[in-house]
Amino acid sequence: MWRSRVDAVFALGTPTANGEIEGLGKSLHEQMRHDHLITSKQLSRADIERVLDHAAEIDADRSAVADRHADTLLGLLFFEPSTRTKMSFETAMKRLGGDVVDMGSVESSSVTKGETLADTVRVIEGYTDALVLRHPKQGAATMASEFVDVPLLNAGDGAGHHPTQTLLDLYTIRENAGLDDLTIGIMGDLKYGRTVHSLAYALSNFDTRQHFISPESLQLPREVVYDLHQEQERVQIREHESIDEVLPSLDVLYVTRIQRERFPDENEYQQVAGKYQIDTETLDAASDELTVMHPLPRVDEIAPAVDETDHAAYFEQAHNGVPVRMALLDLLLSNGGEDNE
Ligand code: CP
Repeated sequence: MWRSRVDAVFALGTPTANGEIEGLGKSLHEQMRHDHLITSKQLSRADIERVLDHAAEIDADRSAVADRHADTLLGLLFFEPSTRTKMSFETAMKRLGGDVVDMGSVESSSVTKGETLADTVRVIEGYTDALVLRHPKQGAATMASEFVDVPLLNAGDGAGHHPTQTLLDLYTIRENAGLDDLTIGIMGDLKYGRTVHSLAYALSNFDTRQHFISPESLQLPREVVYDLHQEQERVQIREHESIDEVLPSLDVLYVTRIQRERFPDENEYQQVAGKYQIDTETLDAASDELTVMHPLPRVDEIAPAVDETDHAAYFEQAHNGVPVRMALLDLLLSNGGEDNE
């Protein structure tokens, strides 16, 4: 299982600067023991379905995997704040019978003495069986992965990618709307939004109509648009400044926060802050079946009243982080996934 692009891409070593993977020639067992997950571009449809199917199995019966990784330690290296990603990885590892070793805050670590990221990951890989890295700099996970042999999972690198968030997003979409023949609107900060970049690439494995809704200054990076156009047999993309023209056609609306911390200029942030908000009145124009998602945290882009509607799936989405990360860790840390057959 999980072999379609595993043989070609997913498991095969060191990502280059743009997140692509190169380096063929390992056995499947070695591949699975040495995987890094840096970007959702690495994932084929079969890879995604393997993780999501296993997550569904775990969701149905967690006890089946309760002690599977009893001797496993997961290293958590979060150089940027996190609630969901960090805690759901910790929960997932513990639910698999393992434990975590946490670097803690940057302020309490030797990073404050000037230790480099390369040295930090090389040290912590000696304590653990896999690493989870979040870092404010785009490309940090790619660089760090070049220094370690244990699997390194990118838990968000600046405005780059967030592939494990994408897997739980896909799981939530599959549960609520299905992944094929999907019409999705992705709204908010598409320029700096790493969850958006990862989701758009992963959805290009499926028959999707993707509508990107943002102010002009926060449009999807042109290289992502270019890449998505290469998949035009399966994927249609459109860009909009207003949600009004597309809302009635959507199966899923994926809302994102305008990320103040990513803007180089506060004035630029102030020009777009609060412009893209959803409330129950907005949703009057939507299909009754519309699923509203958000990677969270939210600030003001979804009114609390929406939480009480049948549209809201964002807390379910956050909870799905546990079975999905359990599935991913189980597949990465087992013998090529063969233990799970
Ligand atoms: N969705 C997400 O990455 O949330 P955290 O920043 O809390 O991990």
